[in-house]
Amino acid sequence: MKILITGASSGIGAELARLYASADNELILLARREDKLFKLRSELFESAKSIDIIIADVTDFSKLQEKIKQIGVVDMVILNAGISIGHSLEITPFEDFKKLFDVNLFANHAILEVLLPLFKAQKNGKIVFISSLASLISMPSSKAYSSSKRALNAYAESIRYKYKKDGIKVINILPGFIQSEMTDKNEFKMPFLLSTHDGVKRIYDAIEKEKRFYAFPFRFYLIIKFIKLLPQFLRDKIVESLY
Ligand SMILES: NC(=O)c1ccc[n+]([C@@H]2O[C@H](COP(=O)([O-])OP(=O)(O)OC[C@H]3O[C@@H](n4cnc5c(N)ncnc54)[C@H](OP(=O)(O)O)[C@@H]3O)[C@@H](O)[C@H]2O)c1
Repeated sequence: MKILITGASSGIGAELARLYASADNELILLARREDKLFKLRSELFESAKSIDIIIADVTDFSKLQEKIKQIGVVDMVILNAGISIGHSLEITPFEDFKKLFDVNLFANHAILEVLLPLFKAQKNGKIVFISSLASLISMPSSKAYSSSKRALNAYAESIRYKYKKDGIKVINILPGFIQSEMTDKNEFKMPFLLSTHDGVKRIYDAIEKEKRFYAFPFRFYLIIKFIKLLPQFLRDKIVESLY
């Protein structure tokens, strides 16, 4: 399989690259940090069929699309690159808000604008979105992040319905907390935090089983589902009690 992984230089993306590094797989790893990608390539060189590195900023949309065109068709794309801008109760500066949407949402469309016609032509292709449990519940301190991932869910769902008849499979993954550079910055106690390997192994298994929607850890997901079922005034009280 030829697999493109965005945000492969650290955390979830790098661990997915490790899990997919096998004799059958040609990996294409994309991110900005060259040193990290080359180090990962040296680590996985022996295990994978081949590893190509693409140094790109996913918010430089036209250059990104050029690079994706050069790759040509792949069997699977894992749209993992993402950022958070911390957990502040202050008004989010516009530029930060926009940057977050550029990375977490629009870059994925920039990539798929190139790949979808190729997937359609070959009547095959897997698209994996890395969303978040944070997309399901809105906390006052994660306005931008939650809304970008909620928009991503809507986008993933639309793509899934639209391209099903073309043999394109869409998998939307909603992880809770997994140890990574992103979560290392969090200064609060993260409920149900998973180690990088445990969390990413669950993502890998869900992709392999072609689950359309996979939210985990299950207990954390159930709690969120339960809160969402409550009447609005009770939900408000719970969220307000956390701040
Ligand atoms: N960890 C969690 O608990 C958790 C939970 C739910 C969802 N997620 C999602 O999982 C994904 C991966 O996050 P992570 O936790 O593994 O964090 P991470 O270690 O910070 O990884 C983020 C990756 O995104 C890449 N990236 C960021 N901005 C980019 C840009 N402008 N251009 C190209 N690449 C860019 C980074 O590479 P460079 O800096 O080298 O460019 C890095 O490889 C994100 O979408 C995140 O929202 C994480």
